[in-house]
Amino acid sequence: MKLLMCPPDYYGVTYEINPWMNIRQSVDHPLAVKQWEKLYDTILSTGAKVDLITPILGWPDMVFTANAGLPHRHDLILSHFKYKERQGEAPYFYAWFKEAGYHILNALPHSSTTPFFEGAGDALFAGETLFAGYGFRTERAFYQQSGVFPSSLIHCELTDPYFYHLDTCFCPLTDTLAMWYPDAFTSQSQINIQQHIDVLSVEKEEAAGFACNAVVLDKHIILPTHSDRIARLLEQHGFTIHVCEMSEYLKAGGACKCLTLRLS
Ligand code: ARG
Repeated sequence: MKLLMCPPDYYGVTYEINPWMNIRQSVDHPLAVKQWEKLYDTILSTGAKVDLITPILGWPDMVFTANAGLPHRHDLILSHFKYKERQGEAPYFYAWFKEAGYHILNALPHSSTTPFFEGAGDALFAGETLFAGYGFRTERAFYQQSGVFPSSLIHCELTDPYFYHLDTCFCPLTDTLAMWYPDAFTSQSQINIQQHIDVLSVEKEEAAGFACNAVVLDKHIILPTHSDRIARLLEQHGFTIHVCEMSEYLKAGGACKCLTLRLS
């Protein structure tokens, strides 16, 4: 198992593109570095590997590699970021994936009519089924492109601006089980999702602590917040729990999972 991460050298909250971000609330940068390093070390301790992309000054959200694109085997669907504040990250991610030998299915520059897509922040595999989030960043139309996405695709429409990426409220744990915060979805999407996967629900406060933004590495789960209830629930399903505090990244609307991108 291998993940892509970006060191937080230039991380900070310098603009506001989701309701968690507030430029007047300062980020403790040394603490952000410590939290990132603990996450990195915890991932390695489970036996997973990590590749790093060089951080670039001026792109503070580049740490959130989940949004780089959606890798699938040797292919990559590159993101088309919604906000100009992040669009400049795309050429760096493109170059990294090209260098790593990936076949990139959509070229740069994106045309102005291309719908937005924010990678594995919004599109999550459980086995070969793709849970396709949209509503705030990614546009549903992006998934309609023929030949790009797998045929087994479950549309997941998001409704709560605090849970603006699918990975903030939905976390596949195995091919057949996911953890989620149901209120973040339209009622139709709640039905669709439950028809395709078993779910463990988190409560509102747990969701607000980004409980669903967990890194799943086989039977190891890294969560940004400790909850006895969730820990018990996951342990009953055979998972080993690790907690990595992410206070400085919550200020940008992200946590553990957003800081990683699953490569293989
Ligand atoms: N500040 C970033 C943004 O709004 C946070 C991204 C979090 N990433 C994620 N996969 N949920 O784009």
